[in-house]
Amino acid sequence: MEKWYCLHCHRFQELDIHSPFCHLCESPLVIWPQKKGRSFHLDRPSSLEKFKAFLPLNRLETKLSLGEGNTPLLRLYHIEKRLRSSFPIYAKNEMVNPTHSFKDRGTTVVIQKALALKIKKIGTVSTGNMAASTAAYGAKAGLKTFILLKEDASLEKTLSTGIYGANLIRVKGDYGELFKESYRIGKRVGIYFANSCDPYRLEGYKITSFEIYFQLGERVPDYLFVPVSSGGHLVGLILGFLDLFREGLIKRLPHFIGLQAKGCSPIVQSWKKNLKEIVPIKVPQTIAHAISNPSPPAGKLVLKLLRETGGEMLAVTDEELMRAQGELASLEGLFCDPASATTLAGLKKWYRLNRQIKPREAVLVLTGTGLKDLSPVKEREKISLISVSLSGLEEALTSLAI
Ligand SMILES: Cc1ncc(COP(=O)(O)O)c(C=O)c1O
Ligand SMILES: [Zn+2]
Repeated sequence: MEKWYCLHCHRFQELDIHSPFCHLCESPLVIWPQKKGRSFHLDRPSSLEKFKAFLPLNRLETKLSLGEGNTPLLRLYHIEKRLRSSFPIYAKNEMVNPTHSFKDRGTTVVIQKALALKIKKIGTVSTGNMAASTAAYGAKAGLKTFILLKEDASLEKTLSTGIYGANLIRVKGDYGELFKESYRIGKRVGIYFANSCDPYRLEGYKITSFEIYFQLGERVPDYLFVPVSSGGHLVGLILGFLDLFREGLIKRLPHFIGLQAKGCSPIVQSWKKNLKEIVPIKVPQTIAHAISNPSPPAGKLVLKLLRETGGEMLAVTDEELMRAQGELASLEGLFCDPASATTLAGLKKWYRLNRQIKPREAVLVLTGTGLKDLSPVKEREKISLISVSLSGLEEALTSLAI
């Protein structure tokens, strides 16, 4: 069995799926890397098979996969033109995962591990995306699944989770406390709560880093823009590049730029004040619900890793991210959610502040679809809809087509 390790205080810790945090600093634990000299199997169809040597899985039950990963890296030519960018900008489109967010990459590894450990009941605490992902993969694996939804989860997210038939519970109250309670109760009643910073989830996120490396022609991306809430996803991406570094395939890590919405930006606040700890936000206020975690469990670790790797944390306003959401859709045909749109809003801000830096390229990780929360779109005045009768159609089209 693999070993669990705290990247913050560099200590090994006991393996307990109901308590995946460091006893000393409370940071999420990660899997200690397997031996070096691992190889890729890029000729295999599924993403898990391609990168299995880098995962803590002895065998793969490929029939439990829903086809996650293998997502496209798209060049954003129109955005480059709009920004007068001197460097290429790419989007890693995680919206095309089976339940339309990056969470599927983590859930698929969690499910494989649950099977290996003969676990029959799984669960998660979520604002929506991890809920749908866990419910879908739980259904596929025939596991009893328990989803604890944040009270303000959108109707679309609630319905698109409920359809998979999991036990769905909406919980009122403090999200940070709910996170802790899930582990305590899960241990008592035998449910493996694979929450946002679960070590096996993070292993799945590493594959995004491997894919980007290969899609860029076996190169490390210069700048990587990632929306951050609990911090689990960003830590997972860093672990992926650390694996490539350890294998001697890359000479340095990317500059990671973590983005939060200004109305809920606990990690950015600590970053700016040069603090080592996170001060929880009392009342989160942002339209980007997917990244509105007021007390991010991996916050402290993210601060440390970004300081060590030449990264940065930035906040963008709801106005800025909504504009970016519209631009990604209208210029590039990519309808992402507000959380993902922080990457473009953040790139624009970062570019304004750092004109002297000439990146080789920037990659925006678009983590989730816009379709699961239509309220920001409804608030937009700019969606133009023309209503005509059938008899007036020709005239309308004729004037528009000129
Ligand atoms: C679409 C989307 N982007 C980004 C995140 C942030 O991920 P993490 O909590 O791992 O930082 C989430 C988390 O739920 C999400 O749903
Ligand atoms: Zn620690």
